[in-house]
Amino acid sequence: MSEKASISINGKSHELPVITGTENEQAIDISKLRDVTGAVTLDPGFKNTGATQSAITFLDGEKGVLHYRGYPIEQLAEQSTFLEVAYLLIYGDLPAPDTLTDFRAKISRHTLIHEDMKKFFDGFPSKSHPMGQLSCLVGALSAFYPESLDPNPSEEEENLTIMKLLAKMPTIVSWIYKKSLGHPVIYPRNELNYVHNFMNMTFGQITEDTKIDPAVVRAMHKLLILHADHEQNCSASTVRIVGSSNANLYASISAGISALWGPLHGGANQAVIEMLENIRKDGGNSAKWIAKAKDKKDPFRLMGFGHRVYKNFDPRAKIIKQACDDVLEKLGIDDPVLDIAKELEEAALKDQYFVDRKLYPNVDFYSGIIYRALGFPTDMFTVLFALGRLPGWIAQWKEMKANKEPIGRPRQIYTGSTRRDYIPLDKR
Ligand code: CMC
Repeated sequence: MSEKASISINGKSHELPVITGTENEQAIDISKLRDVTGAVTLDPGFKNTGATQSAITFLDGEKGVLHYRGYPIEQLAEQSTFLEVAYLLIYGDLPAPDTLTDFRAKISRHTLIHEDMKKFFDGFPSKSHPMGQLSCLVGALSAFYPESLDPNPSEEEENLTIMKLLAKMPTIVSWIYKKSLGHPVIYPRNELNYVHNFMNMTFGQITEDTKIDPAVVRAMHKLLILHADHEQNCSASTVRIVGSSNANLYASISAGISALWGPLHGGANQAVIEMLENIRKDGGNSAKWIAKAKDKKDPFRLMGFGHRVYKNFDPRAKIIKQACDDVLEKLGIDDPVLDIAKELEEAALKDQYFVDRKLYPNVDFYSGIIYRALGFPTDMFTVLFALGRLPGWIAQWKEMKANKEPIGRPRQIYTGSTRRDYIPLDKR
């Protein structure tokens, strides 16, 4: 028998259906609430609002569980590759070996970007933030591929746009980096795997057959896999809501990139390293900075700490912390901010303020230290998050289309002035 919830408003009782997910999560279906009661719900920040039914990612914040399409993140991070995980997220199941080979081949056919796009790079000021460039360049792809504007593409056309986007994103990201250095760009090498090719375009030499340390390539696979999806977060919700107006995939992803940029979301990885550097320059007194984070009069927050959903631990942070130790050891790097990060974590986890609010390190706390060890400058960190999150955003957009979800359009409770008459300027 299906569950019901009852609500009483203005003395009248109404029954509402209760939806149960495959992992037994429950939601009260309020989609007809306004029709039957005249009232809407109010939930700023959507803290208790399910915006969709989704089969992509499951996370249990109390238990620290994260699954992509049912597969535990720990297994995928350890054993899979980024492109395989991308396929899994976008198409729903692990690919057969032939299917993965075919997927890889199709993507490698589209890795070049239109030569005219180089003019955009030349137009950006040399110090402009890579996230601003990325959002602009991904949006601009729709101008080069106008067929993507069709709101009802065939499956084949939709897949072609998906392949193009997956293929061109690493080229765009690495060229943003090269241009920031004033270096010539390196063209894609399609015989290399997706991540290796990206690392080669970023750190390789034009003339030689560059050897990128396999440990570096493996670490990058792991980081990208860990960032590949995270259900209805700020940027994924943005992608879905922009796409719900029938905006094309490039425009929707470009909006997601902008949403990711903020330091409360993906921009936290850059903010963490900047914070750790400041603490180091200030003498490395973690107690002082923990006290600042607890002081409600001080706007400072411990970046890389806390999460809307995880209230026990972030499983991604656990894997990244271990990977951070491994990568630094393998590359023989001794980064003083790693010690500060560990000290801060230890102090915060014992502090009643953080314990009471269930604040733990999130995915961004240690990722920046690895990116730095791999050679990326700080302002590239959030762009790397975006590169990893791309398959998740595509999967969320595709699912929203397949579900034929209505245009996203929340209600509000108006709190402004009631009706009043206009007073002409000369009478005021
Ligand atoms: N440092 C100090 N206090 C904090 C922090 C923090 N990092 N995070 C939350 N709090 C406090 C907050 O002040 C509030 O205290 P009180 O109840 O006394 O008012 C309480 O904890 C709950 O915080 P909230 O802001 O209501 O929680 P939220 O779910 O709206 O925000 C968050 C979640 C991630 C935005 C927040 O924890 C935060 O700002 N963290 C730092 C930024 C960060 O690391 N973001 C990356 C998130 S994970 C990567 C991703 O985006 O996917």
